[in-house]
Amino acid sequence: MKDFIAGLPKCELHLHIEGTLEPELKFDLARRNGIALPYTSVEEMRAAYSFDDLPSFLTVYYEGMQVLRTEPDFYDLAMAYLRKAAEQNVRYAEIFFDPQAHTSRGVPFDVVIRGLWRALIDADRQLGVRAQLIMCFLRDFQAEYAMATLLESLPYKEWIVGIGLDSDEKGNPPAKFAAVYERARQEGYLLTMHCDVDQDNSIEHIRQAIEEIGVDRIDHGVNILEDQRLVDLVLARGIGLTCCPISNGYVTDSMKAEGIRKLMELGVRVTINSDDPAYFNGYVGENLVALQEELQLTREELARLERNAFEITWLPRHLKDAYLAEVDAYLA
Ligand code: HPA
Ligand code: ZN
Repeated sequence: MKDFIAGLPKCELHLHIEGTLEPELKFDLARRNGIALPYTSVEEMRAAYSFDDLPSFLTVYYEGMQVLRTEPDFYDLAMAYLRKAAEQNVRYAEIFFDPQAHTSRGVPFDVVIRGLWRALIDADRQLGVRAQLIMCFLRDFQAEYAMATLLESLPYKEWIVGIGLDSDEKGNPPAKFAAVYERARQEGYLLTMHCDVDQDNSIEHIRQAIEEIGVDRIDHGVNILEDQRLVDLVLARGIGLTCCPISNGYVTDSMKAEGIRKLMELGVRVTINSDDPAYFNGYVGENLVALQEELQLTREELARLERNAFEITWLPRHLKDAYLAEVDAYLA
């Protein structure tokens, strides 16, 4: 099964590029930028990665990304991820980035996006991995800052396929960003947002995301299972869910494998992704292996998860069909 998963053509739809910053690269960038880190080795740094919920993870995540300063830093970050993706036979990725995690500490928006974009171009040419960018707003900052960031992104609209919402969900409901999402829709961006697992008010937040915001996709979202009306809405609108089993295992009580199984049985377009692989020790391949071992998934079920993912990508129909054909050919 591991070999089957290794060769399966894959699609990654829930990946924070800042969450791919491996300790080795963190040390390299710190040296390049003359930043002193409070660790002397990779092992020591990893040992300090202790988190058991979303806020404790986010503290480590934001601290780690402070070594990212210049355009080449963002290029190297994205290129390192895309090389890893190519090794795992990821054929296509939609990649989140958190501009406010950088602009809030003085790194200009254009430095971030130019570095990332240049890596996407090179990866397409050199590695045969296609990718697009999704700009996420930090929900624990004010909606006005999100709106300012949205306006700042407009000159780069051709480089950004859609918007997302991440960071700490507690006390930061989707409705807080209704005006930002409305403007983003008018500008032609596609819409997703995190509905993190087992949050306070998870059900109400998911309802707002679907009914008030009108999202095209939901990141995480397994808590729809607690409310049949939400399941019906997701099915009726064909909304895909980007689930992240290993991440779930770190920030909640389990991988939520049984929930993912149930979503598959219900016919929800559920997909398997890695979230923050440098922190959770697992790229998409490891996530598929972990889920397969837990649920004893068949080859057909694994292929279905990748079919779901290619189907809910934000790609034109002919490209979706080309990737779906790769999955079918592999399974056959
Ligand atoms: N949830 C919220 N914010 C995040 C995540 C996540 O899974 N990963 C990085 N920032
Ligand atoms: Zn996430």
